[in-house]
Amino acid sequence: MLITDLNARVQAYRREIDSAAARVLDRGWFVLGPEVEAFEHAFAQYCGVLHCVSVANGTDALEIALRAVNVRAGDRVATVANAGMYTTTALVAIGAEPVFMDVDLSTRVVSVDQVEQAIATGVRAVVLTHLYGQAIPDLERITSICRAAGVSVVEDCAQAHGAMHQGRRVGGFGDAGCFSFYPTKNLGALGDGGAVISQNEEISGNVRRLRQYGWRSKYCVELLGARNSRMDEMQAAILSVFLPHLDAWNARRREIARAYSTQIQHRDVIHPTTGAQDYVAHLYAIRAARRDALRSHLKQHDIATDVHYPIPDHQQPAMGSQHAALCLPNTERLANEVLTLPCYPEMTDAQVEQVISAVNGWDA
Ligand SMILES: Cc1ncc(COP(=O)(O)O)c(C=O)c1O
Repeated sequence: MLITDLNARVQAYRREIDSAAARVLDRGWFVLGPEVEAFEHAFAQYCGVLHCVSVANGTDALEIALRAVNVRAGDRVATVANAGMYTTTALVAIGAEPVFMDVDLSTRVVSVDQVEQAIATGVRAVVLTHLYGQAIPDLERITSICRAAGVSVVEDCAQAHGAMHQGRRVGGFGDAGCFSFYPTKNLGALGDGGAVISQNEEISGNVRRLRQYGWRSKYCVELLGARNSRMDEMQAAILSVFLPHLDAWNARRREIARAYSTQIQHRDVIHPTTGAQDYVAHLYAIRAARRDALRSHLKQHDIATDVHYPIPDHQQPAMGSQHAALCLPNTERLANEVLTLPCYPEMTDAQVEQVISAVNGWDA
């Protein structure tokens, strides 16, 4: 069994995909055209925000959003170290300094205390990552604390398309919300893609210019620090095919997660603490002290797993000894213990059962 099955997705929607692709080919307009505009409009509506600007991928979305809220070289920006290095990569590209926050052991995302401690060190902005599809439980409170302190908030929603917090979708709480549409995401294209959403016109205007050479209008460069980070028409057309299915896919993901959390009963396996509508089950990551042994056991049962993520950002080889003195106990423990089980909408009930019985049958 695969960790995710994109073939099953493509097969299920092949006719709609073919007709979207044909529409793009027939029109002969391939980058930033009517398909992109239509998808941006639909996704902004879906997220309940005023503005959506698409970009080329989720890492660009983070970098461009940070630049759009005026993060500059030398600024200190708080982020987590358990989310695959994407935000840190964006910060390093800007020349900003990551200030790593630890996360809660059970939700695997930040809590109020961790953000307050970061604010006290004088950060210019905070990136809030809704990891594994879990909306940060205190999102509203955290964003108001940041606002009161004059600290910008960028949400990383790359794993949380459609997750709700207090009846609103994530991404619209901070100054900007960043998405990836990498194929395996809850809403994925058939190639790379990303977006920045916002309620703020000025920030969205900055994103719009930063994604295309800093242009105010063709060949008139108004902003430095820009790039080419455009979405292509083909990906936008495919995303428009998939968006109407996102809520149903998320519901199926949640159903699988619920089956795991109630039916996997093993003394050496710890389940994530998740909510209801605030969790869109992008990844179902259990914890096990003997994670690698469980992983090989599942492999023997032909079940693929993954580790998200094995190396915390502050311990990545590229960081050298910069953060050698930093200790993030929960983050470091999670890196050694988390294991992602297959959890995707196309899974059959029989496959879900197979995972459950294989984990339960682990002779730890
Ligand atoms: C939490 C998180 N942030 C950012 C990204 C970056 O997105 P992309 O791969 O589209 O650059 C990803 C996904 O890969 C992610 O999981």
